[in-house]
Formats: sequence, structure tokens, C-alpha cells
Amino acid sequence: MQDSKHIIELKYLTKYYKGSSIPAIDNLNLSIDKGEIYGLLGPNGAGKTTTISILCGLFGPTSGNVFIDGMEYHHSAEKIKNIIGVVPQEIALYPSLTARENLTFFGHMYGLKGKELKNRIEECLTLFGLEKNAHRRIKTFSGGMKRRINLIAGILHKPKIIYLDEPTVGVDVQSRNVILEHLKNINKEGTTIIYTSHYMEEAESFCSRVAIIDKGNILTEGKPQELIASKKEYTDLESIFLNITGRALRDE
Ligand SMILES: Nc1ncnc2c1ncn2[C@@H]1O[C@H](COP(=O)(O)OP(=O)(O)OP(=O)(O)O)[C@@H](O)[C@H]1O
Ligand SMILES: [Mg+2]
Repeated sequence: MQDSKHIIELKYLTKYYKGSSIPAIDNLNLSIDKGEIYGLLGPNGAGKTTTISILCGLFGPTSGNVFIDGMEYHHSAEKIKNIIGVVPQEIALYPSLTARENLTFFGHMYGLKGKELKNRIEECLTLFGLEKNAHRRIKTFSGGMKRRINLIAGILHKPKIIYLDEPTVGVDVQSRNVILEHLKNINKEGTTIIYTSHYMEEAESFCSRVAIIDKGNILTEGKPQELIASKKEYTDLESIFLNITGRALRDE
């Protein structure tokens, strides 16, 4: 049975991509509490995006179980889709539509419409400092602006759980701060956040708990400050990351 305290529970999750004899996710067990900002950290190819993809129902695991808010994924996929929001690693926007048109499209996908959707779009555009540019086509946007629109597209429907796959990659310090500040505010209102990143310093201050994963396995898990305090040689999250994942290059 699933423990109701956990909004997300992964049990013995394994994923083999078609044609591969090495699992991308290997017997992964993970529990996330309501209201956490949980960081999935790991080198290239560690299995972060695969985990997020399974969590948001893009594809199923080869074996194992996914429980979200007390429901098992494959029995309640439709219900679960209503309470989650996904901000993918690759920008998923229509370049020739304007920012506002893109957000209207995503709003419709989540079942929002009319004045409610219009107001919500304006509210989010203002929150992320984009209201003046909302009439412009996405293809004329800078990378940081696209990231912010990508993010808004995943949170328009006020989901209970947000999955963010490297939301601040390629973004300047100003945009990054805007993004993280607003995510913290959304989290304070009760939303659980699952986030992946390669920025250890950012994860250290942003996450309530992190897991460092490699080759589809959790190597260590805990509150950043507790992990750092656990060994004398650990000075920050980056030192832990390098210590336990090694210095060899990945994806070669
Ligand atoms: N569609 C796919 N088909 C086959 N193998 C895949 C596919 N997607 C990912 N993989 C493989 O699965 C493993 C995990 O990849 P994944 O994209 O989950 O890693 P990641 O931690 O998100 O990496 P990154 O930090 O580079 O985004 C890697 O070995 C990768 O090559
Ligand atoms: Mg990835």
C-alpha cells in the first residue's frame, strides 16, 4: 500500500529503452513528501529525464510502480494528469505563434478557457516580467524569455505537483532569480516541486531534499545541509557530487 504522506512514490522502478541492454533506471525507490522541493541531480545520462518522463506519464516503466497522490499511475492516468504540470528540458513552444497564443494553446490543453484562462495568462506574464512582450512571436524571444514562457506553460492550471527538467539552463542570473523566486512562492502555497539541474549551488539553496543519481540508481539522498555535514571532506553539494559520481566523462 502507498503511504499517504508521500505525494510521490516510486517502487522498484526499472526502465530499459527499446534495443538497450543497460537500464536507464535501475530498481529505483523514491518517496517525496507533500510540499517538498526535491532535486534529482546526476551527471549526463544518469536517468533524470527518464524518471521525470515516467512520472508525468509520457511512457511507462519496464517494471515497478508509480504512485501519485495516493493513486497508482496506470489505473488513474487521467486523474493524475489534471494535478501535474510539466516543464520539459527541451523548449516545447510553437515558434511562429506569439507568447500569448502559445499560452492559450497550453491552457486549452489543460482544460482552461474563457476569462479564467485570459486572466491567468496575464497574471503569469506579469509575474515573470513578460507582459510587454506577450504579443511577439516566440522565435523572436531570447533564450531566457523562452525558458520563462516554457515554465508558465506548465503551471497555468495551478498543478499540485510540478516537474521541472533543468528549468534554468542557459538562463542569465537575473532570469534565473526571477524563475527561482516565483517557484519558491508557488511552493509556499503548497505545490510540490520536483526539479533536475546541473547547477549544484542552485540546488543547494533551492531544494529541501536532493537525490544524487547515476546509472539509474540513487547514490545518496538527503537535505543538502545534512549531506554536507555528514563528512569532513564535504564543503558543498558540488564536492559531494564529484566525490560520489567520480570525474569520468559520461555519454561517450
Ligand atoms: N529515447 C531514448 N532511447 C534510448 N535510450 C535513451 C533514450 N532517452 C535516454 N536514453 C538513455 O537513457 C539513459 C538516461 O538518459 P536521461 O535522458 O534520462 O539522462 P539525464 O540524466 O536526463 O541526462 P542529461 O543530464 O544529459 O539530461 C542514457 O544512457 C541515455 O542515453
Ligand atoms: Mg535530461
